[in-house]
Amino acid sequence: MTLQADSLEQLAEQVAKHAYAPYSTFSVGAAIKTAAGNIYSGCNVENVSSGLTVCAERNAVGAAIAAEGTAMKVVEVFVTNKNAAGETIHCSPCGACRQVLAEFSAPDTKVTYRGVEKNIETTMGDLLPDGFTF
Ligand code: THU
Repeated sequence: MTLQADSLEQLAEQVAKHAYAPYSTFSVGAAIKTAAGNIYSGCNVENVSSGLTVCAERNAVGAAIAAEGTAMKVVEVFVTNKNAAGETIHCSPCGACRQVLAEFSAPDTKVTYRGVEKNIETTMGDLLPDGFTF
């Protein structure tokens, strides 16, 4: 099913419903905007062999690379979630996803995720200061 949305937030909410999360029962949806002005999404896809689980953010990056190629740059990210009770909880992008997002973004790339009472708006530079590089 092709998702259609008016905003990154709406798209992230929609794609979270596609999450394959039978083990954690925690659904995550990520939407990203690229410098080309396009929007992509990803949800978490778990596996019975838990280490094979891929987070929503990394699947969104993969979708963007697949569509635009390696020159793709992420300019904005929105991440949402839903637990088994249908509640949205505070959840920031995990460390692995921060490193992968950093590969294709800039320190001023805007990242928004769910907080306790309101969204938390930050940047890649604040989420991953001094990330790995060589
Ligand atoms: N998860 C994400 O999709 N993104 C994150 O940044 C953190 C965690 C997923 C992975 C797993 O399917 C579930 O949340 C619980 O860890």
